[in-house]
Amino acid sequence: MLQDAGQKKFGATVCDVCGMVYTHADPIDETTHAKFHANLLNTLKFPGWKKERIVEEFIEDGSKIVMVLNDDPKYATRKISEINKIMGQELGFPDINLSFTSNYKGFLYISEDKNIEGCCIAESIQEGYRVIADPTSKSPSKNSETQQRPWYCDTEPERASIGISKIWVYKQSRQKGIASRLLDTIRTCFHYGGVVERNELAFSDPTPDGKKFATKYTGA
Ligand code: ACO
Ligand code: ZN
Repeated sequence: MLQDAGQKKFGATVCDVCGMVYTHADPIDETTHAKFHANLLNTLKFPGWKKERIVEEFIEDGSKIVMVLNDDPKYATRKISEINKIMGQELGFPDINLSFTSNYKGFLYISEDKNIEGCCIAESIQEGYRVIADPTSKSPSKNSETQQRPWYCDTEPERASIGISKIWVYKQSRQKGIASRLLDTIRTCFHYGGVVERNELAFSDPTPDGKKFATKYTGA
């Protein structure tokens, strides 16, 4: 995968469907894109499973959220691994295999027409570090807008309860509240016997999009 680092000058395009940045007229790029694109659409198909742990249903639009645990049938955990790969490609670390231990829970957001439109891999944690403004910058807010990762973090940990290891929404379904629905559901069903407050979520290594979303969602 190429990074969107201003290649537009060189004729790079971002695919509206799969989000891949590639160069038109570069045969290698075109082939890589075609493969990635087809694989994405195929992986996102969700015909339904014999056993689905439906943790939320949205009657308004017929979508639902399914939770997958590490000791679930292979077809379920394999789906999470496949989506994990897709998320990794978009987040910039393509080859990382998910170590789906019992600490983790996977959540799939499935549309009425049986496509996976979002995924979140969440982890049980005890503490997190608050993101703060760059201590060396004179205009912290401006700087944090333009800055890529890493962000600056407080040195003292704070209590946190769920780690959002990865969250991803299908490109054409973004900013319709899907990530928010995923997190609302995760806060309710992750730990038995209690809803987790928004400020007890910690996001691992957020992307600029992820940071904007997390800031809005947690009200931080
Ligand atoms: N820019 C500015 N504000 C945003 C953005 C954005 N790109 N995305 C979300 N928000 C804010 C908005 O205020 C939005 O409310 P509004 O649409 O009413 O203004 C609010 O957050 C809620 O957004 P949702 O619609 O619930 O979020 P969405 O379903 O679009 O998913 C996500 C957000 C997951 C970040 C999506 O953009 C995505 O998949 N991006 C690519 C992958 C990625 O970067 N994931 C985060 C990595 S960090 C991590 O995984 C821990
Ligand atoms: Zn594409």
